[in-house]
Amino acid sequence: MTIQEALNWRYAVREFSTKRLPGKLVEDLIEATRKSASSYGLQPYKLILVESQETRRQLLPCSFGQQKVLDSSHLIVLAAQTHIGDHTVDSYIQNLMEKRKVPFEVISDYASHMKQAIASKTDAQKQEWAHQQAYIALGTLLSAAALMKIDSCPMTGFDNAAFDQQLGLASKGLTSSSIVALGYRSQNDKTASLKKVRVDYDNFVIKA
Ligand SMILES: Cc1cc2nc3c(=O)[nH]c(=O)nc-3n(C[C@H](O)[C@H](O)[C@H](O)COP(=O)(O)O)c2cc1C
Repeated sequence: MTIQEALNWRYAVREFSTKRLPGKLVEDLIEATRKSASSYGLQPYKLILVESQETRRQLLPCSFGQQKVLDSSHLIVLAAQTHIGDHTVDSYIQNLMEKRKVPFEVISDYASHMKQAIASKTDAQKQEWAHQQAYIALGTLLSAAALMKIDSCPMTGFDNAAFDQQLGLASKGLTSSSIVALGYRSQNDKTASLKKVRVDYDNFVIKA
């Protein structure tokens, strides 16, 4: 599929079939999501693959009746970090030094610049920034899934606080951002045949 064919094929699936996705395919999709771009490359979020059916059963009542939280093949939660600060930069710098084999002296100014940029934000702005980065990962995941012919439904229609509690996210320094049901569309899902509704090109693009 070309990217246009994949994006025309994908839609937010409302009803999934009972068919399970192969585990390897899901891992490939997670790997694609891991490669998402993020501000400074700091990736202030985690991806949670909810493997326990029991946990998914407990999440269902916190999902405003969205049955796909339980019925889809797989469920992913993207969660933003709740504590953003110098340590966020430090762990990135450590990783960068290892991966690119550069000494700290070469990147110390860059590290200070990132720390200052983060320190200039209020706690609320830091949290919002982390959610924004998690949303970019969500977009990467959805596009990758489409190219891989994996059906998906992104969701923010759920009780964040209840999800955080059920998944024990606070103690991990995380808060839920969005969730994604994955699997194969059901033949009964009437949404599949609906025409896409998007703003027209002329209403979308401004050439300056
Ligand atoms: C951040 C985000 C949150 C969404 N939340 C929900 C949701 O809670 N439940 C749902 O059924 N669809 C949800 N959607 C799907 C949108 O309704 C859908 O993407 C939009 O109507 C465009 O349709 P299409 O994706 O099928 O082309 C969400 C989409 C995004 C990007």
